Amino acid sequence: MDITIKKTETLKDHPIDSGLGFGTFFTDYMFNMDYNPEKGWHNPCIEPFGPMSMSPATMVLHYGQAIFEGLKAFRTPKGNIQLFRPRDNFQRMNKSAEMLCIPQIDEAFILKALLKLVDMERSWVPSETGTSLYIRPTIIATDPYIGLRASNTYRFFMIMSPVGAYYPEGFNPVKIWVTRDYVRAVRGGVGQAKTAGNYAASLYATELAHKDGYTQVLWLDGVELKYVEEVGSMNIFFVLGDEIVTPRLNGSILSGITRDSVLTMAKSWGLKVSERRIAIDEVFDAHAKGELMEVFGSGTAAIISPVDNIKFHEKVITIGNGQVGPIASRMFKELIDIQYGKSEDKFGWTVAVNPS
Ligand code: COI
Repeated sequence: MDITIKKTETLKDHPIDSGLGFGTFFTDYMFNMDYNPEKGWHNPCIEPFGPMSMSPATMVLHYGQAIFEGLKAFRTPKGNIQLFRPRDNFQRMNKSAEMLCIPQIDEAFILKALLKLVDMERSWVPSETGTSLYIRPTIIATDPYIGLRASNTYRFFMIMSPVGAYYPEGFNPVKIWVTRDYVRAVRGGVGQAKTAGNYAASLYATELAHKDGYTQVLWLDGVELKYVEEVGSMNIFFVLGDEIVTPRLNGSILSGITRDSVLTMAKSWGLKVSERRIAIDEVFDAHAKGELMEVFGSGTAAIISPVDNIKFHEKVITIGNGQVGPIASRMFKELIDIQYGKSEDKFGWTVAVNPS
C-alpha cells in the first residue's frame, strides 16, 4: 500500500523543551488509515493534525471499543532520531486488537508508516535530556450504530506529542495509594489489553488518591483483593532484600514493554529477578523487617519512577527515607542511555529513523 501524503503550508511554532509537560502539544502531521470488511485496511495517509468529524452514533463513543499504544522517539547526541522497541508496541497492539474484536494490523507496514511520519516531523523531536517525542497509535470503532456488537469499520491513527516528564515530580519519588475498595481489572476481563476502558475504570479511585495527596493508585487483584497488580500508568517492582520482584503476568496486568526492558537489564546485571504473585501484606511485612529496599514503577511515559511512600488504607510506609535507591537510579540511567543512543544498544531495542 502506498501512503498518501497531504502537506500543509501552515506549520505550528514549536514549544520550548523546558516547557513541554506531558501530552499537550501536537506535531503538524498525523497518520490515518481506515478499515472496512470489503477493502481491509486501506487509504493510509499522512495529513495535517486536526479534528476528526464523526457521527454522534459512532460506536467507540458508546461502547469504548478502542485500543492504543504509547512509544517514544529520541534525539541522540549526534542529532539522529531513534524509536525505542516500536515492533513490540505494534505486536502488543495486535494482541489488544484480538481481545477487543478489532481487525489485525500489518505490523511491518505500520512501522514503515511511523518511520515516514517521524522523519517528516524530525524537528519536533526535542533534545533536552528527559524530553522525547511521544507517539500514540490508536484504533477506534467507527460504525455509526448504537446496538451492541463489534463494529465493522475502524480508524487507525497515530498522533505525536513532544513531551517532558510524565509526573510533575519528574524523576523524584512518587507516592502511591492502595485500596481494597476498587479494582481496575479482573481475571478473564481485558486487563492485559491496552484499551481505553481500563483507564476510564481507574479514574475514580485515582481522584480519591489525589485528594489524599497521592500520585497514583496501586491496584490489587480483582478476585482476592490481595495481590499487587500494577499502578495506573506503570508496572511495579519491589526490591525485597536482594530479590527484584514484579507481579507475574496473569491476564489482568498490562505486559509493559518498559517492564520487559527492566527485567532484561536486571538479569543482564546478574541480579535475582522474580516474576511472581506478591501480596500487599508481603510488601508491608518486608518493610517492617527492614527488607523493603526499593520500590519503583516502569512505563513508556513514566520511564523509571521511584516510589517513596505507600498508603494502604490506614497504614503508611516510607521507603528509603525518600531517597532514590541504587537499583532504580541505575535502571533509569542505563535505560535512558540506550534510548538516547548514549550507550551501546546491546539488546537491539532501538530503530533508527533515517532521513529520506
Ligand atoms: C504509556 O506509558 O505510554 C501509557 O500509555 C500510559 C498512559 C497513562 C500515559
